[in-house]
Amino acid sequence: MKTFSLFILYSITIFMEKYFHFLIPISFDRSTNNLKKSRKKFIKNVREKLSIREANSSTVHSVVGNETGKDQYVAGLELSYTDQENHPKKRNLAVKYLSSRNEPLYLSSLKSAVLRGLNQEVRFYNELAKRIPFVTPECIFADSIPLLYRGIIIMEKLNPDFTVDDYVGCRPDQSKTVIKNISLMHAKFWNRVSGDPSLNWLPGRKNPLDLFWFLNYITKKEKACVILWEALYKHFANHPITVAHGDCRPGNIMWYDSGSIAMLDWQFAHAGIGTWDTTYYIVMAHDMEIRKENEISLINHYYSDLSVSYKKFHSEDLPYSEEQCMEDHNILKLLLGLYGWAALVSHMFDKYGNDPRDVRCWADRITSAINDLDSDFVSGKIKIPARVIDDFKTIMENAGRETKERFIE
Ligand SMILES: Nc1ncnc2c1ncn2[C@@H]1O[C@H](COP(=O)(O)OP(=O)(O)OP(=O)(O)O)[C@@H](O)[C@H]1O
Ligand SMILES: [Mg+2]
Repeated sequence: MKTFSLFILYSITIFMEKYFHFLIPISFDRSTNNLKKSRKKFIKNVREKLSIREANSSTVHSVVGNETGKDQYVAGLELSYTDQENHPKKRNLAVKYLSSRNEPLYLSSLKSAVLRGLNQEVRFYNELAKRIPFVTPECIFADSIPLLYRGIIIMEKLNPDFTVDDYVGCRPDQSKTVIKNISLMHAKFWNRVSGDPSLNWLPGRKNPLDLFWFLNYITKKEKACVILWEALYKHFANHPITVAHGDCRPGNIMWYDSGSIAMLDWQFAHAGIGTWDTTYYIVMAHDMEIRKENEISLINHYYSDLSVSYKKFHSEDLPYSEEQCMEDHNILKLLLGLYGWAALVSHMFDKYGNDPRDVRCWADRITSAINDLDSDFVSGKIKIPARVIDDFKTIMENAGRETKERFIE
């Protein structure tokens, strides 16, 4: 009931903001268009942190690579200014607007109601980024207005040695670097999220699958999906949790030759199952043949990196076995299947400016990972009939085919 009342409230406030925004003063810009028209709000937002006496010049440019539609929400800005000591300074910044991104009003309102208007990425940059044991962009300014489901993050623009397009996919050596770094983060927070009051804003502390709240609604389209979702939700209810990135794929990762990585796009940061990031990455970041050849070695790498790092951080053995990690990896592919299926059938990618080549390869990679699963094995583990898994394989295949027909290159 509380969620429903909030849904109504947020529908009204988001409607007001959408159509009567000129009546509501918001202290930060809403999109790249605002920024292009005037830098007034922007300078005000960063003045204190950058110690600006006078802004001299600024140019807006693109930083989004092949995700061209995202220019509206993510922009680069080169700023020249003099600081309080009158020294000339130059900063390369990236600005990300967390607005409704053309999604239907009901979806923004639902998100605000279910997430209680919370904006995870703003909180991540303000409260957690400094504790992550690999590179994250320095945050200059981050703010949100939960009632309007609006937010902004102004951060340093990173200059990696290389990036990898999602549809191209990673080589195993690139993936080992990613796995080494994410396992470091997982090890640091492993079983330590619930006892840390400063992390109580992370969704998933009650059940790590709460991040996927929308599956409560979308799965209603297919009986097999409802059964699968309920079984997975129950299966992972008391699982060890850690800090998880939630969207761990090449488009959100930057590589440095030193063996380090930077991760962007923390919108889905949550208290989650560590192996989830790895499973998601292994499936989403590799060409199908490369995944099949390297999957076991990559998940073994994850486990061994995780246990070594855990011991270094906490001076005790990791309370999670290798067998459990491998079993979780296989079962989590079902969660990725449901998640991917929901994104495909809700046409989520149609409006988000995703490159068609990325969308097509995600559809293929997820479908193939689901098809490769042994239905008897995974169904036994989550206590549902094997035919539900077989039905889901067909449902996923159809959604993948339908999406590929729409996303023609
Ligand atoms: N700090 C940064 N430095 C350099 N490039 C950045 C930075 N932040 C974002 N970018 C570029 O912009 C792209 C989009 O940013 P990001 O992944 O955070 O948003 P998004 O993908 O639009 O979010 P979502 O996936 O939720 O739609 C990145 O893939 C990257 O190329
Ligand atoms: Mg992204």
